Amino acid sequence: MNPFGLRVDEVERHRWPPFVTAAIRRGNFLWHIDGAIRRTPQQATLLTAREVDEAGGDTEFADTYLAYDALPDEEKARLDGLQVVHSFAAAQARANPSATEQERQAWDRVPTRTHPLVWTRRNGRRSLLVGATAGEVIGMAPEESRTLLDSLLDWSTRPEFVLHHRWRRGDLVIWDNTGMLHRAMPFEPTSRRLMHRTTLAGEELVA
Ligand SMILES: [Fe+2]
Repeated sequence: MNPFGLRVDEVERHRWPPFVTAAIRRGNFLWHIDGAIRRTPQQATLLTAREVDEAGGDTEFADTYLAYDALPDEEKARLDGLQVVHSFAAAQARANPSATEQERQAWDRVPTRTHPLVWTRRNGRRSLLVGATAGEVIGMAPEESRTLLDSLLDWSTRPEFVLHHRWRRGDLVIWDNTGMLHRAMPFEPTSRRLMHRTTLAGEELVA
């Protein structure tokens, strides 16, 4: 359950500095979909609570199908065709704003991925592909791009689109990772919280 869908061996391959585990943990507190910088993000995620801690660690989910459907038609038309660069660096810059230049250079070594802002499935269903990894809209001035992405994330995570889950030991939650953002509520590194995750690989390219 990290914004990048990266395994430990992939972290090693990119030779990231040792801060990466803590950095990724903080990334979980931001709204994201798993594997957004992959060509094909994971289809679904299964999360089981083995140990829970009363002090934080709940999970929130936001429905990006509903968020897209609820947009006014003129806004849908404005978003149509826009492409967004997703990156590890974009998410990390938010999670770790006081990072050093050396850390930022390390983030920039991770390949980026460009996806359409509106994800259209073969079955015609559409969702907004936003979240922590969404760095910039191609062809847009940086400020305009940031404003648009921030406003769409705010929109997608309005209370009417969000489910808050408080874990009990033994809970299993399965969600469509391609049509939902999620985030962990903050918890301490010393928390006894223990979650087991299984991911279902995606089959449909983002289009
Ligand atoms: Fe995650």
